[in-house]
Amino acid sequence: MTGGAGYIGSHVVRLLLARGDDVIVIDRLSTGRRHRIDGAVLVETDLASPEAADEVREIVREHGVDGVLHFAALKSAPESVLQPERYYRENLGALANVLSGIRDTAVRSFVFSSSAAVYGEVSDEPVGENIPTAPINPYGQTKLAGEWLTRAATAAAGIPSVSLRYFNVAGAGWPDLADDQVANLFTVTIDRILRDEPPIIYGDDHETADGTGVRDYVHVLDLAEAHVAALEALANRPQHDVYNIGTGRGVSVREVIDALASVSGRPLAPVVADRRPGDPSSVVADVSRSARELGWRSRYSLSDMVESAWNARGDVAGRGRQETEHS
Ligand SMILES: NC(=O)c1ccc[n+]([C@@H]2O[C@H](COP(=O)([O-])OP(=O)(O)OC[C@H]3O[C@@H](n4cnc5c(N)ncnc54)[C@H](O)[C@@H]3O)[C@@H](O)[C@H]2O)c1
Repeated sequence: MTGGAGYIGSHVVRLLLARGDDVIVIDRLSTGRRHRIDGAVLVETDLASPEAADEVREIVREHGVDGVLHFAALKSAPESVLQPERYYRENLGALANVLSGIRDTAVRSFVFSSSAAVYGEVSDEPVGENIPTAPINPYGQTKLAGEWLTRAATAAAGIPSVSLRYFNVAGAGWPDLADDQVANLFTVTIDRILRDEPPIIYGDDHETADGTGVRDYVHVLDLAEAHVAALEALANRPQHDVYNIGTGRGVSVREVIDALASVSGRPLAPVVADRRPGDPSSVVADVSRSARELGWRSRYSLSDMVESAWNARGDVAGRGRQETEHS
């Protein structure tokens, strides 16, 4: 697994170890954390470096790897607008290296971490996998091109593969695996509450029930289970396909903030700022394809996400929160 020491990958590591799999993590520990992957083998290397394809091939052969999940990537949409070359070079370079490295090996399944960012500004809901893709930033473009590269390279190598398009990931399956980057509505709001600063709502004039933006938040443990389901489904799936991984239910920014304020016992009234350019009013996944073809459905609720994220705050604070602006 690449990027297995990250927030999402480490949840999948824990599920795979629990079912008895041997797990090899390749990670350069840029945002990854060693403490998250006890029980797995860690190979510390930069997958975007020119030697990486050969290193991956050696690791795969040495450990008899038969399935690969590729999480390693840069993931900040705003940063990608400022540094497009770096995002293309690293995200697509690392992916190309991994795909080259698994050619002509015993690998028989490949899962690529894609994102709802491939859709861009959607107008119809729910968002099905077949609507036109139109990413609005270089990060989303690297995910879409990553799907194309995955499709082409795994077809050429005869390796069954899928791309999973994650919607808004939140919560923690275990406190020590919590997201430590101050990057999304959950982590930014918790950070502000802890500093006694009011949470911020960007725009309350959206075309939604309470006027604030609506998104599809999926619990990271649900998402991790979707990877296990995908690995199992891949055995019967010769050609690459894409799947939305969300809940199919929309939750507003105000609902998330209210729920976090309530669990924290510090009900600070949020302040309303201007809408951010390019921010769609509502983005909710159509999850019927993943239910039908992967046999996977989300199980956890908004309160599970809110409570697990809040309860992990001590763990995150103890290890040091990362000030980043990731999406
Ligand atoms: N978190 C989300 O909401 C979200 C949503 C959609 C898609 N994704 C995708 O899911 C994947 C995992 O995201 P995450 O939230 O766990 O992020 P993360 O930053 O916590 O994890 C990424 C991991 O990859 C490693 N890494 C990055 N570049 C590397 C390289 N060149 N070589 C080796 N290791 C490298 C990092 O050290 C880290 O451990 C990413 O591909 C991301 O784009 C995340």
